[in-house]
Amino acid sequence: MDDNVSIEKILYVKNLTTSFDTETGRIRAVDHINFSVKRRETLGIVGESGCGKSVTALSIMRLLPKPSGIIEGGQVLFNGMDIISLPADKMHEVRGKKISMIFQEPMTALNPVHKIGKQLIEVFELHFPSMDDMQIYQECVELLERVKIPEPDLRMNEYPHQLSGGMRQRVVIAIALACKPNILIADEPTTALDVTIQAQILSLIKDLQRDTGMSVIFITHDLGVIAEVCDDVVVMYAGKIAETAAVRDLFYIPKHPYTKGLLESIPRLENKRKSKLKIIKGQVPSLDELPEGCRFQNRCPEVMDICRTEHPELKPVGEDHQVSCYLY
Ligand SMILES: Nc1ncnc2c1ncn2[C@@H]1O[C@H](COP(=O)(O)OP(=O)(O)O)[C@@H](O)[C@H]1O
Ligand SMILES: [Mg+2]
Repeated sequence: MDDNVSIEKILYVKNLTTSFDTETGRIRAVDHINFSVKRRETLGIVGESGCGKSVTALSIMRLLPKPSGIIEGGQVLFNGMDIISLPADKMHEVRGKKISMIFQEPMTALNPVHKIGKQLIEVFELHFPSMDDMQIYQECVELLERVKIPEPDLRMNEYPHQLSGGMRQRVVIAIALACKPNILIADEPTTALDVTIQAQILSLIKDLQRDTGMSVIFITHDLGVIAEVCDDVVVMYAGKIAETAAVRDLFYIPKHPYTKGLLESIPRLENKRKSKLKIIKGQVPSLDELPEGCRFQNRCPEVMDICRTEHPELKPVGEDHQVSCYLY
């Protein structure tokens, strides 16, 4: 079988490299990254702010800001088809319908001047022109029920500002699910919400994933959230992949010093009051002043001489476990 079409995998990202043209020159936000997404599973992408998570997602969706954002190279194979090289009109059939995305701030995804119902109906009218009004209305109500919005008939007639943040994010998820996508990309979908609402949205995404069999790419800066929803994890640092593993391996046998640092900064119930959280000292380097060698070197507690001159390749350290670090 063709290596790029697999029964197990729905998406391959291969050597994806994305840059921005800025006033000070071209910066590379995502640098030759490789990962794949399994069918019916959830892949987490984690890393501190500015590591290239959203740029990765926007590259897959081909929604980078124009004209500054440029996919310089690589492939994104969806069921074997490279969607990076698809003509724009063909990409319309993939975006929203096969792969859809939800963002951190639900208000930006909703139009404040239109009722929830109108915004949902529009999605169906766009993608399913043969459906009649009654059918569409019925589908919308069912969708709102699926994302567990109480009294969906009433909500259809409300404006986004009349809903709480959590309810708005449910509406956004409903819109994203309207076309029964094969892949849902959720980019920090709970970051703007308070903690109890966060937990509800996470469990909703998990339930929907299980019920529909879709794959999910779940993006977060919070490794604690990853444990709740993901099967596999990609850890990103300054535009590159530091480590990738099954979620259990990442938590029990983390290899990269960056992953270990992220793990130590997860708040845990037992030491909430006793000790202050460890945080990784220093900051993600700015993309226009990346050091030679490993990008984590200036923050790494285990840095060696070689780390200052050469960048480590991503190497296997176990089954489905890869790390980019000279310690291994
Ligand atoms: N529109 C843009 N113009 C220029 N640079 C950008 C733009 N968006 C992102 N970047 C650069 O890419 C880096 C990664 O951004 P992003 O993917 O949004 O990070 P995050 O991991 O927090 O989602 C940023 O730190 C910034 O340097
Ligand atoms: Mg982001």
